[in-house]
Amino acid sequence: MPETAASKPRQFAIFGHPVAHSLSPRIHQAFARQSGIAIDYHLIDVAAPQLAAALDRFAAAGGAGANITLPNKEAAFALCAARSDRAARAGSVNTLTRVNGRWHGDNTDGAGLVRDLTERHRFDLRGRRTLVLGAGGAARGVVPALLDAGIAELVIVNRSPERADALADALGDPQRAHARYWDDLGTLGEFDLLINATSAGRAGGRLELPFSLIGPRALAVDLNYGEIAVPFLAWAESGGCRKLSDGLGMLVEQAAESFAIWTGKRPTTDAIHAELVQQAKALHSAD
Ligand code: ATR
Repeated sequence: MPETAASKPRQFAIFGHPVAHSLSPRIHQAFARQSGIAIDYHLIDVAAPQLAAALDRFAAAGGAGANITLPNKEAAFALCAARSDRAARAGSVNTLTRVNGRWHGDNTDGAGLVRDLTERHRFDLRGRRTLVLGAGGAARGVVPALLDAGIAELVIVNRSPERADALADALGDPQRAHARYWDDLGTLGEFDLLINATSAGRAGGRLELPFSLIGPRALAVDLNYGEIAVPFLAWAESGGCRKLSDGLGMLVEQAAESFAIWTGKRPTTDAIHAELVQQAKALHSAD
């Protein structure tokens, strides 16, 4: 039977390096089944210098949308023909959509984190004193959305202080957002929300943090997931923190937001999130 335009799967992909273990294909295929939309979702292993050429090839082959992950989010931002306001504020892009032969860039990471915290964890962000550790791409992607969600104060602490200063300045909200030195962590008082946005765990590093940062009903979030998130969350738990979250919920929510941009249909996320949590537990218990 000849393939019709209607039956042809829409072409999506994630571009990153490394990318082989990405959960995005599984998440997007779950959304596609739920929405009754046929998609192909490819893994494309490419680093930033080759990103533009790889995206051109993908577009020529019918690519309709792409997710962009480490280390390519800034490179993707640079090559977009148009960018959403939230991508411009983050200075990076995790979602590309092909529109009239050009790539439009968006960043769904911040919205994904806020949705995970507010909907899944039922954590009201309004008025919360918030600490963000790290001032790299991951931090930049999420802090504008946290401010928009109404947190009371944002303290950014980074190993290299100039990066924390630059991020705080770029936010343009001096009443609420400011940078502090890592060495001063012991003097900053208690926080309601503590977010690890460093990549220390990816390199097997461990952060030295005082328990005095943990407020009485604090939520601790690591933007990483799996083994990489364990040291920070274990630290928080040892310090008496009862509410802990890794970045799996954010991963699923940012994907849902991308899927909605591409297809106009917002998928529900609980089933695929629960499936991935179960799988992570099974892997852990098999160790
Ligand atoms: P990503 O896109 O994951 O944010 P990045 O832009 O390279 O990656 O940023 C990595 C972040 O983790 C930075 O904030 C980095 O601190 P520096 O700016 O001082 O390099 C932080 N980081 C990485 N390893 C760290 C460690 N061992 N201790 C503290 N911070 C660390």
